[in-house]
Amino acid sequence: MPQLIAGNWKMNGLSAESAALAEAIEAGAAALACDLLICPPFTQIAQVAAKLRGTAVAVGAQDCHTAPAGAHTGDISAQMLADLGCAAVILGHSERRQNHHETDALVQAKILAAVGAGLMPVVCVGETEAERDAGQERQIVAAQVAASLPENFVGVIAYEPIWAIGTGRTPTIAEVEAMHRDIRTALVQKLGEAGAAIRILYGGSVKPDNAAALLAVPEVGGALIGGASLSAAAFLAIARAAKHVD
Ligand code: PGA
Repeated sequence: MPQLIAGNWKMNGLSAESAALAEAIEAGAAALACDLLICPPFTQIAQVAAKLRGTAVAVGAQDCHTAPAGAHTGDISAQMLADLGCAAVILGHSERRQNHHETDALVQAKILAAVGAGLMPVVCVGETEAERDAGQERQIVAAQVAASLPENFVGVIAYEPIWAIGTGRTPTIAEVEAMHRDIRTALVQKLGEAGAAIRILYGGSVKPDNAAALLAVPEVGGALIGGASLSAAAFLAIARAAKHVD
């Protein structure tokens, strides 16, 4: 299976720069062996999806509501995202878990909504620095996997240690490998054989200079990239480090 290189633009990008970034990524995508996904802010999805329709670069969103439609002022449904041309949606990102008090149960409801609309959920899990310092990271992440994923989950997991996001710090290769193996075990426990085929991305300060090492770790099925995904050159350099994994 090809590794998945996914960009999370977060709350960045006005019209002109988003168009230019999407075009530059698309221009470099043809030569790549990996799967590519970019997740602009809601306001840029329509124009980015229109530009990338029929190309090798898929478009996703960064969140969705649990309901298909209704009285939810300011919210966006999975159906609306699919209608715009989204193929995927990031759910349970730590910035939403922290800033919007999203619980595992809410994330699970959003996953069901996303799958119901035909979107591939990219579900984020990860521990805080205090949890890792207390030696609790394995339990915390296993519990998030168990409680966030519905039965028969189909999608992608992203392991993102919160202390590595936007900080320039990353876990050691051994720590990434240990956590990804744990997540694989939790997935197989929860989903049976299907859990063996789910891609587990690593996210948190992935850059061109550390991508090859992180993407070579067993059980790493790709990367979720924040800051470096705002530069086409950096994003494509990371994508060039991706490979096919069994
Ligand atoms: P970062 O963000 O690459 O800027 O650390 C990763 C993420 O939050 O998905």
